[in-house]
Amino acid sequence: MRVYFATSNVHKVEEAKHVAREYGVELIPTQAPKIELQSDNLRDVAVYAAVLAYQHVKAPVIVEDAGLFIIALKGFPGPYSSYVYKTIGVNGLLKLMEGVEDRRAYFLSVVAFAYSEGVKVFYGRVDGEIAREARGSKGFGFDPIFIPKGSTKTFAEMDVEEKNRYSHRAQAIRRFCEWLVNEGPSHL
Ligand code: IMP
Repeated sequence: MRVYFATSNVHKVEEAKHVAREYGVELIPTQAPKIELQSDNLRDVAVYAAVLAYQHVKAPVIVEDAGLFIIALKGFPGPYSSYVYKTIGVNGLLKLMEGVEDRRAYFLSVVAFAYSEGVKVFYGRVDGEIAREARGSKGFGFDPIFIPKGSTKTFAEMDVEEKNRYSHRAQAIRRFCEWLVNEGPSHL
């Protein structure tokens, strides 16, 4: 089964491909649509982008949108994670968390699959905490400061297989693949 994955993030592709392969699903990277919906809802952003991507590739396609939600900051940066990463970055977030004892945070991932019958949405979430300092050089984004529950390492200290045992993205992709294999359109 082959499905396009509209994204310009090579790390996302690598992580998602590892998971999809276990289900016999081949993800083919393609450029993400340039227009991003501005919304404080990850689901709306992913669905909008998936519909645009489907119109462009004219074949079944997924889009994934994710965010980091920090409890002590009332969910910030959440849907603004990409903007916050580009502006204040990892060090800026660490600064905001200086002196904050409650380090709890979670990543959310929304996978939107657009195909001839409409759009289906799948979710993944990983709980964990914000590290006191950045550690590790693998991965991308806020990986150096996120420690998933059940580990002492940050995501940036893990290889892809290990990150996928915990990650929000791996969970959402797994749910998508399970649906695709068991209930999805048979003609893919
Ligand atoms: P996007 O809009 O899905 O590309 O994600 C928004 C931002 O969230 C990215 O720019 C990253 O900074 C951050 N992010 C999303 N997923 C991850 C992850 O798996 N690890 C680290 N940061 C992530």
